[in-house]
Amino acid sequence: MKVLNIAIAAAALLVAAPSMADVLADQKCTTCHDATAKKVGPTWKDIAAKASADDIKAAIEKGAKGKYGKIPMPPQPKAKGDADAIVKAIMAHK
Ligand code: HEC
Repeated sequence: MKVLNIAIAAAALLVAAPSMADVLADQKCTTCHDATAKKVGPTWKDIAAKASADDIKAAIEKGAKGKYGKIPMPPQPKAKGDADAIVKAIMAHK
């Protein structure tokens, strides 16, 4: 039974991993952000190290500026409904 549970957990992870990254692509966050390559915005890795879940939600709702560099991030109102999934996807880069 234990083996079966582990197999199910592993399968769930395989399914969860790509869809977590997809929410960031679907919401066009990846236009400015990448996991490890600096683009217009900071990397998900940098953000996961510096930001809290509340910071991430605030960035989506109100935008962000001054924390990582000179370029500000505009608010992303369309992504609000996916905020929880986005927090998880970004924090997965810790
Ligand atoms: C037009 C480019 C652009 C887009 C699109 C964009 N961002 Fe950003 N983002 C930035 C920039 C630039 C910063 C750095 C702002 C700063 O220095 O504080 C940033 C910072 C952030 C931060 C850090 C906030 C903090 O307080 O630490 C988070 C979280 C974030 N972005 C999430 C997202 C998410 C989620 C999306 C998609 C819904 C997204 N971004 C789309 C440019 C963008």
